[in-house]
Amino acid sequence: MPELFTWEFASDPYPAYAWLREHAPVHRTTLPSGVEAWLVTRYADARQALADQRLSKNPEHHDEPSHAKGKTGIPGERKAELMTHLLNIDPPDHTRLRRLVSKAFTPRRVAEFAPRVQELTDDLIDRFAAKGEADLIHDFAFPLPIYAICDLLGVPREDQDDFRDWAGMMIRHGGGPRGGVARAVKKIRAYLVDLIHRKRAALDEGADDLISGLIRASDHGEHLTENEAAAMCFVLLLAGFETTINLIGNGTYSLLRNPDQFDRLTDSLARGDDAFLDTALEELLRYDGPVELATWRFATQPLQIGGQDIAKGDPVLVVLAAANRDPARFDDPDVLDLSRGTNPHLGYGHGIHYCLGAPLARLEARTALATLLARLPDLHLAADPADLRWRGGLIMRGLRNLPVAFTPE
Ligand code: HEM
Repeated sequence: MPELFTWEFASDPYPAYAWLREHAPVHRTTLPSGVEAWLVTRYADARQALADQRLSKNPEHHDEPSHAKGKTGIPGERKAELMTHLLNIDPPDHTRLRRLVSKAFTPRRVAEFAPRVQELTDDLIDRFAAKGEADLIHDFAFPLPIYAICDLLGVPREDQDDFRDWAGMMIRHGGGPRGGVARAVKKIRAYLVDLIHRKRAALDEGADDLISGLIRASDHGEHLTENEAAAMCFVLLLAGFETTINLIGNGTYSLLRNPDQFDRLTDSLARGDDAFLDTALEELLRYDGPVELATWRFATQPLQIGGQDIAKGDPVLVVLAAANRDPARFDDPDVLDLSRGTNPHLGYGHGIHYCLGAPLARLEARTALATLLARLPDLHLAADPADLRWRGGLIMRGLRNLPVAFTPE
């Protein structure tokens, strides 16, 4: 039985997941927080569990043993208003809120945002291109999504650096909303509530940002309450920020570790083959995606997953990273093959909680990688892979830093 949640595991969890898939595909474990939860590692079980409505997203269904109270780090367990968001609720509330947000956060809005993402990407690369070296997490993957989401929401430019700092506090500390995280969440909430007030007051001035769109969105005469709007903005930030950092970070790292694939991608970009880039991005998500474990689910009744009995109230964690390397679903799953044809990976989840931001994530990652490789084609790793540090968090998988070198522009 391999050890889970150690330092070695954080740098490369895939051998441990292969063992679990083979020998204990639905495995009860004690998490670092002391909470016991089931890990689901096979593709078929994972996909089924993600769509199983008997598994609730509402943490009130957690039958938390008293010894673990207060140390679970399960965000929604706090009653804080911001926590009643899409990832913590079930139908019918989920259906209503998702329908409302989908009216404002449309694929068209994302497509129209493409030039701004390109501009942000170019600006960030401009800042380090002449130096010949950079930390791609700190200098690039970290700021890009935060400025992008701020712009999309309609956070004024002069406030965006505050937002960047608060978001940084949230991911530096990790875990539940305590300490630095609690302070950051409080600041973000206060800011968002105030901004929503201001946007509401100025609504007839024709503003076209996402917050104004959310305020306008209505469904059968229903609107988002102010709390719901604040929680919605918060989940967009929470779900769209560290994920995108890691998609750019893990994706670039995977390419740097697989030079033949790196060359295939740069060649295809030079030929203007955009379709190849899209296929490649899906493979990067499958191979080492940002979301290692899907967010928490809780059994609302006794049930079975992969033949294993799960008791009412038990937490279930679907291990997307393990499912995406299941040899029962993917040929040569441990090989990065950017031209992999059918690629039904679970990197964006599955079922009613399927990633709402997938079009934006794809736009950002596509723009980031294409621009980076076109401008710095001899990009290479400037550190021993063994010295790289992975951010230790339960749900996300990503690097703390990614030192690279290249011929200065
Ligand atoms: C949900 C992955 C980017 C917004 C999810 C889920 C996954 C995921 C796996 C489902 C979680 C679960 O079922 O427990 C990713 C990945 C991204 C990304 C890999 C890569 C960059 C974004 C972005 C946004 C976003 C950019 C928005 C700005 C959301 C929201 C949900 C969600 C709101 C909850 C949807 C619901 O519960 O109905 N994402 N995400 N994500 N994502 Fe993403």
